[in-house]
Amino acid sequence: MIHTFQLKSLQIHKPLILAPLAGYTDLPFRLLCRQYGAGLCYTEMISCHGLVYNKKKTLQMTRTVSEERPVSLQLFGADPVLMGEAAGIVSDMNVDIIDINMGCPVKKVVKKGAGAALMKNLDLAAAIIRQVCSKTSLPVTVKIRTGWSHDTLVAPEFARMAEDNGASGIAVHGRTWTQGFGGEVDWQTISRVKKSVSIPVIGNGDISTYQDGLTFLQISGCDGVMIGRGALGNPWVFSEDGTPTTLAKRMKGLADHLCLIQKYSRPDKILAKIKNHAGRYFKGIAGGSAIRRKIYDVSCFEELLEISRSFSM
Ligand SMILES: Cc1cc2nc3c(=O)[nH]c(=O)nc-3n(C[C@H](O)[C@H](O)[C@H](O)COP(=O)(O)O)c2cc1C
Repeated sequence: MIHTFQLKSLQIHKPLILAPLAGYTDLPFRLLCRQYGAGLCYTEMISCHGLVYNKKKTLQMTRTVSEERPVSLQLFGADPVLMGEAAGIVSDMNVDIIDINMGCPVKKVVKKGAGAALMKNLDLAAAIIRQVCSKTSLPVTVKIRTGWSHDTLVAPEFARMAEDNGASGIAVHGRTWTQGFGGEVDWQTISRVKKSVSIPVIGNGDISTYQDGLTFLQISGCDGVMIGRGALGNPWVFSEDGTPTTLAKRMKGLADHLCLIQKYSRPDKILAKIKNHAGRYFKGIAGGSAIRRKIYDVSCFEELLEISRSFSM
């Protein structure tokens, strides 16, 4: 069965999608996931303030290249005017979709009324969506949770509100704010969201294999399935062949990732972050813990490259 879907006029050809993950879904990792079969990748969440006020760090996070397209840039913020301005700025960049973060549970974000706090404030959420849509011709999507807590599962009506205000797609993480990132994923509410709107819906939560991705696509009736933590150290989650079980093949994944890091970033400046990614390639595999120890001991990027070369097939 061919699973494709359309966000406004943009066709997404493969249904498994890389979720936005702050601290992880930078340009090299997105490129890697596209190479391994992701149909679409999201940037990390990007502050509308940072964009509007031209903050260097924020601007660095917006970097994209044509090989990774289609790419969705995720904005967060709680001020409709600033979010609109940020959308205008993003529209001049090489991105295909603007996503609005309405699901982040982190205190720092929620305290300012952004992220998941917007699920308690439909009027403000509607104003943000309207304002963003009015400043861009790109498809605008919204990423939400099932609700704030188990007794307020507002996702279906929230999604309808988003559609009515111009959104072209919805991604739903099947947990409430109260649940954070643990507890059971509520695919039933995700299915209810799908039934409540006519725009594409992307389901999300705890998918860690390609096969599970397809299964949940079918069970939920969603148009796409989004994978976050399951893709870390495991870009094969987007490939039909699945995650390899030999060290050498896992090492090939790391080598591909390191190659992209070398090409698109300054590796020695972000060594701790790279080691965090690298160690994950060897989870749950015989001999993996010894390699992880080696990885954590390296003191420069070149040493990490040497480890990956020493295992090349
Ligand atoms: C480290 C980390 C960073 C995240 N950053 C973002 C983010 O920037 N924007 C967002 O909408 N969701 C973010 N999320 C939520 C994920 O996109 C996803 O909805 C959630 O992890 C559930 O999917 P999973 O079980 O496949 O990881 C983050 C989650 C984690 C664990």
